[in-house]
Amino acid sequence: MVETFVQSTTDVVDFLKHQHNLIKDMFDEVLHASDGRARETAFVELRQLLAVHETAEEMVVHPRARREMANGDDIVDARLKEEHEAKEQLSALEKMDVDSPEFLDALAQFRDAVVAHAEREETEEFDKLQAELSGEDLERMAGAVRAAEAIAPTRPHAGVESATLNFAVGPFASMLDRARDAISAAVK
Ligand SMILES: [Fe+2]
Ligand SMILES: [Fe+2]
Repeated sequence: MVETFVQSTTDVVDFLKHQHNLIKDMFDEVLHASDGRARETAFVELRQLLAVHETAEEMVVHPRARREMANGDDIVDARLKEEHEAKEQLSALEKMDVDSPEFLDALAQFRDAVVAHAEREETEEFDKLQAELSGEDLERMAGAVRAAEAIAPTRPHAGVESATLNFAVGPFASMLDRARDAISAAVK
């Protein structure tokens, strides 16, 4: 099982890079699940993690990168376009039967797009932002990003898994709304 919480890091860039690794692991869990129920569960957790992660980037990191970096607008616009395409791919996946070959093919394509997107973020945006900003700024941004995790209390304790999943199940769009609310409350 993949641990979806990221602990003990206070730099927003390190935190988001760690989440990129968790996202890759979650894709593997969905693709290699032993049965339909395990695949459905892993897919819910993957969507939660993507909702938390992408919303944090959109609300906290991209706006800062836009302001601070040379060519910030071009770089961020390209990332936002990829994120928009990912949401469309995900909404198509949500309509499929998780046990169908069609789902697995589409999920593998989606994973490749998400991994390529993450790599571009790291090299073109995050590393530059980390070099530009002070440690204090990077820590403050990490605090806002962590607030989004409030919507994804994934496997905090043994035995509450089903309750967590009931809470989480729903279209990706509603997970994004909850993540947005959590971050807005944190940055007020
Ligand atoms: Fe992203
Ligand atoms: Fe990312």
